[in-house]
Amino acid sequence: MKAIVQDTYGPADVLELRDIDRPSIGDEEVLVEVRAAAVDPSVWVLMTGTPYLARAGFGLRRPKVPVRGRDVAGVVTAVGAGVTRFRPGQEVYGTCPTGSLAEYAKAPQARLAPKPADLTFEQAAAVPVSGMTALQAVRDVAGVRPGQRVLVIGASGGVGSFAVQIAKALGASVTGVCAAAKADFVRSLGAGDVIDYTREEIDRDGARYDVVVDTAGNRPLSLLRRALTPRGTLVIVGGGHTAYRFTGGMGRTVRAPLLSLFTGSMFSGRRLRPMFSRERAEHLEELTRLIESGAVVPAIDRAYPLAEAPDAIRHLMEGHPAGKVVVTV
Ligand SMILES: NC(=O)c1ccc[n+]([C@@H]2O[C@H](COP(=O)([O-])OP(=O)(O)OC[C@H]3O[C@@H](n4cnc5c(N)ncnc54)[C@H](OP(=O)(O)O)[C@@H]3O)[C@@H](O)[C@H]2O)c1
Repeated sequence: MKAIVQDTYGPADVLELRDIDRPSIGDEEVLVEVRAAAVDPSVWVLMTGTPYLARAGFGLRRPKVPVRGRDVAGVVTAVGAGVTRFRPGQEVYGTCPTGSLAEYAKAPQARLAPKPADLTFEQAAAVPVSGMTALQAVRDVAGVRPGQRVLVIGASGGVGSFAVQIAKALGASVTGVCAAAKADFVRSLGAGDVIDYTREEIDRDGARYDVVVDTAGNRPLSLLRRALTPRGTLVIVGGGHTAYRFTGGMGRTVRAPLLSLFTGSMFSGRRLRPMFSRERAEHLEELTRLIESGAVVPAIDRAYPLAEAPDAIRHLMEGHPAGKVVVTV
């Protein structure tokens, strides 16, 4: 099969379209004929081996898993002996820890769900990593309730475009932070108001927000605090992925527990919550419900063919997609 493979860490030039063996599956695994995949900042992390901390788990000199990509949508072609939830021929979506930028990919059954019927494969591939992150940030970590005011920083990006829609679906009124060119796009996702970060800052309207979901920009905590109500919650998802060689976009997420020890008084009454996304079928199933109800529509910035996957990653890392960057296989 054809796959996007790398033998060494580096920029997108290290990726090659190459013929390799199809993955063999274990008892709990599903083999998927990939119709579409997507890219997100974690693909860049594994490609470059930065932040360096990532190499401890993913391979010191080169990535242990040579195929890139994580999001997948496709058709089941084979299942392991212990797989009960899927059968060949079924359309699925989810995440592949061993790479999805390929003609075939394998995934544990616990990381897949039936594809929402009305979505194209490209739309479905746009959902898993970013949608699951947004769902957990907004629903589980922030606990957004009807009537609350929610600020989403990075509202036009992969995670942000889902976070805006999910917060709206939970009954919140949402303000999105994005560049001016994305304002109409962010409003179309359901944001009632937009802050153009090139002209104004997030404390423009004072301590207004019950919840701030921060996916971008590395603003100082003091500024984030100024936008929160006295009992508000700040959820740190990520931001500035290329800025820190050692901890990358997860930098503040990793540092937040430490910071919270020192910022207790500064944050008094307010909650500072780092989040680490988990990939589970139940999260995908909840996203399917939101999609089938019409509350969430995956937004696609651009689609690339498999051979041009390196360009998809370059485009993503220029830092200004409107929604998700997908790869058609
Ligand atoms: N904690 C976790 O478990 C977890 C899971 C997934 C992702 N992440 C992290 O979350 C971050 C976002 O991921 P993503 O997939 O959404 O990335 P993305 O698709 O690249 O989106 C980032 C968005 O940030 C916006 N942005 C850039 N500079 C900004 C600024 N100064 N203020 C406000 N917005 C700004 C850009 O929009 P404009 O064009 O409007 O500038 C862009 O659309 C990454 O750091 C990623 O590593 C964390």
